[in-house]
Amino acid sequence: MNRPYGMLAELTYGCPLHCPYCSNPLNLADYREELTTAEWQRVLAEARALGVLQLHLSGGEPLGRRDLEEIVASARGLGLYTNLITSSLGLSPQRAEGLRAAGLDHVQISIQADEPALSDRIAGTTSYEHKVAAARMVKEMDWPLTLNVVIHRHNIDRVGGLLDLAEELGADRIELANTQYYGWAWRNREALMPSRAQLGKAEAVVRAARERLEGKMEIIYVIPDYYSLYPKPCMDGWGQRQLTVTPNGGVLPCPAAHTLELPRASVRESSLEWIWDESPLFNRFRGTDWMPDPCRSCDRREIDFGGCRCQAFQLTGDAARTDPVCHLSPDHDLVADAVRAANEGPEPGVADLIPRVRTRKSSDSPTGL
Ligand code: SF4
Ligand code: FES
Repeated sequence: MNRPYGMLAELTYGCPLHCPYCSNPLNLADYREELTTAEWQRVLAEARALGVLQLHLSGGEPLGRRDLEEIVASARGLGLYTNLITSSLGLSPQRAEGLRAAGLDHVQISIQADEPALSDRIAGTTSYEHKVAAARMVKEMDWPLTLNVVIHRHNIDRVGGLLDLAEELGADRIELANTQYYGWAWRNREALMPSRAQLGKAEAVVRAARERLEGKMEIIYVIPDYYSLYPKPCMDGWGQRQLTVTPNGGVLPCPAAHTLELPRASVRESSLEWIWDESPLFNRFRGTDWMPDPCRSCDRREIDFGGCRCQAFQLTGDAARTDPVCHLSPDHDLVADAVRAANEGPEPGVADLIPRVRTRKSSDSPTGL
C-alpha cells in the first residue's frame, strides 16, 4: 500500500473572509470542538511515522489559532516541510517573526483580484492592502512566497493583472486555480462558472506569461474540469498519497469527503495508521475494484482513477459513479448542461454571489478569531 506524503491540516474553520467559493463545509458550526495543541502534536507525530513529509497548514484561517507557532515548531522538530496557506489577515510582523523562529518553510497567500475594490468585494471584507503588504513582508523575510488565486467568472478577465502583481511582489510561484465546485462554491456554481470565451483568453495570457517569466516565476494554471474531456485524477487517487485532518479531528481522503455518505474516521477515536490502512472510509474507493463501467474497462482508469468521488456524489447522488465530467460518463449531460448555462444563460454579477458565513467560536476554542 502507498504511504501518504502530504497532509492538509485544517486547523480551524474560523475565518475573517467570506469568499463565495470557499470549499469548507456549509455546516461550519459542527466543527467548533477543535483539536487541542497536544492533540495536533500527537497527530503530527503519527503522520510523520506514517510517511508524511509535507504539512499544509490551512483552514479557514490558520493564523486564527493562537498555538500555530507551537504546531509549526513541533512539525519542524519531526522533520516535516511546513507550508502555511493563509489569507494573511493576522500576519503581523510579530507573528511572522514567531513563525520564522518556529521554522516555517513556506508561505502561500491568497488574493482575490489584482484590484483593491474587486478583491475586497469578493473577500467580503477589506483585505487587499493588507495582503499586498504581507506578501512584501514575506519576501523581505526571505521566505519562498506563493500567491494563490481562485479563478472564476468575476476575476478571470484580470489574469494578466494578477500575473503582473505576482511579478511585482517577487512571488516565486503563482497558482491560478479555477474554482472547484465544493462547499460554498457548489452553492454559487452558476454565478462563478466562467464562459468558454473567457477561458480561451485567460489561457492565452497564461501561455504568454509562462514564456516571458520562464526561470523567474513558476505559473500553475489549474484548468476548470467542467470544460475538460476527462476528469482530474483527484488527490492522485483516493487514499493513495494525501489525507486531510479537519479542525475537530475528522480524517478524510480529501477535503470535500465530509459530504459523502460513508463511515467516519477520527483521530480522537483511532490512530492515523489504522485510519489510513484499515478504515472502511479510506478503503472504499482505493484501487480500481470499486469501479463501474465505463471506468472498469477504460485504459485511463489508472491515470485519472475515475475522477472525483465527491463530484460524482454531488452531481449524481452516488459517489461510486464515473465522474460526470468525463465525456464517456452516462451522466455527462449534467456537466454539459451547466456549461451550456454558463455560456448561454443570463450574465451573473458579483452581487449574485452568496458569501460564506462567519463562524462563531465556542469559549474554549484555541482559536483567537
Ligand atoms: Fe477516466 Fe473513467 Fe472516463 Fe475512463 S471512463 S476516462 S477511467 S473517468
Ligand atoms: Fe473528494 Fe475529489 S474532492 S475525491
